[in-house]
Amino acid sequence: MKTNLWSHADVNDPYSIYETMIRESPVYRDEINRVWGVYSYDGCKTVLNNHAFHIPESVGGNELMFNDTVLNIRSRLTRLSNGITHEIARHTALLLFERMKTVEMDSIIKDLLRNDHHEKETDWVGSVGKQLPSTVILKGFGFNDDECWLICHQMGQLVKIMSLTGQADLVNETAKEIYHTIENRLIAAGFYMTIIENLSRKYDISKDDAVAYCVSNLIGLLIQGYDACRGLLSNSLLQLLNDGEFLRGNGIAKERVQKAVIETLRFDPPVHNTRRVAAEDLQVNGYKIAKGEIIIVMLAAANRDPAKFVNPALFDIERANNHEALTFGTGAHACVAKHFSIQLATEALTYSLNLYKNMKLREKEIKYEPLMNVRLPVKMLISLY
Ligand code: HEM
Repeated sequence: MKTNLWSHADVNDPYSIYETMIRESPVYRDEINRVWGVYSYDGCKTVLNNHAFHIPESVGGNELMFNDTVLNIRSRLTRLSNGITHEIARHTALLLFERMKTVEMDSIIKDLLRNDHHEKETDWVGSVGKQLPSTVILKGFGFNDDECWLICHQMGQLVKIMSLTGQADLVNETAKEIYHTIENRLIAAGFYMTIIENLSRKYDISKDDAVAYCVSNLIGLLIQGYDACRGLLSNSLLQLLNDGEFLRGNGIAKERVQKAVIETLRFDPPVHNTRRVAAEDLQVNGYKIAKGEIIIVMLAAANRDPAKFVNPALFDIERANNHEALTFGTGAHACVAKHFSIQLATEALTYSLNLYKNMKLREKEIKYEPLMNVRLPVKMLISLY
């Protein structure tokens, strides 16, 4: 029996599942889990571009007793909201992004690799993947080294506010502490009052509410960076280290690394799917989706649709249309950090591969986190030579 729900920890090759589904059932109703799965490129785009497909509310309510800080952050995150809340939250995230300063990354990466490596080997996921995106974002907003260290080391707890899982008291405590650190830092930043006044005037909300939108969405940027960006750093390095041809020669050019990162985003992306709920009776490729039904939008399957990408199972950095992959979503909820993520991964990989010209993977078998929507290596031991 086919299913639309499985964990990446249990599936070695999700791409063969996608190939079969696109061929046999590009829009599939999984009766056991009572969810639709949309696999074709066309179908995924139709769903993402239709405003009547909403972001679903979290299931199960607040049984684990998360505190007001966690619930207030969630209620204002652009990633999780619909309607006017989404409009305010997305605007907030974009205003914050505009104010984020560009940070020189080489010395940060060098430190991360040096701090964590032991006898010329390190876990790329733990040392760089989990720390670099948050550090770059925090430094871009002027956080000092102590604040960066404190927040980066608590990200593993903080991300649990997205799924409302984990030990509630730990998540509650972490969220409260990080909320206050971020609020204080933002208050000290020169641009802060301009953003607050801008939001408060434009959307007729109180200044306190505008403050909460700012702090919550900065936390949102950190969370997306910790999960998705870590996956991009890991999956791209995997492609590069497995391609002996790529690494041959003395210098690794940034333009080629960038092309490899962009093709990795199509070929082996960190984000595999996202969810929507039908706000009214709707059609997708001739299938009727009833009001209230949940749809899993299989972005990673769409990226392997032969109707869109010629010879989709081939990793080809010169592919003409790989930038049309759906990995960053599209429509009203499209990722706000596409260029940031591609640039961060390109620079981090170019620098690291030129610093350690004979870098190799120490273990062939990669295990993935037990998650359904993202494909994130748990660990990647690499040698640093
Ligand atoms: C490689 C890395 C990334 C991938 C593959 C990715 C992918 C996505 C996808 C698929 C969505 C749309 C979700 C949906 O439509 O339901 C999204 C939304 C979003 N992403 Fe990313 N993302 C990445 C990195 C980041 C980073 C580093 C940040 C922040 C610094 C970020 C911030 C956001 C935000 C705020 C949204 C919500 C936008 C909205 O709902 O209006 N993303 N991302």
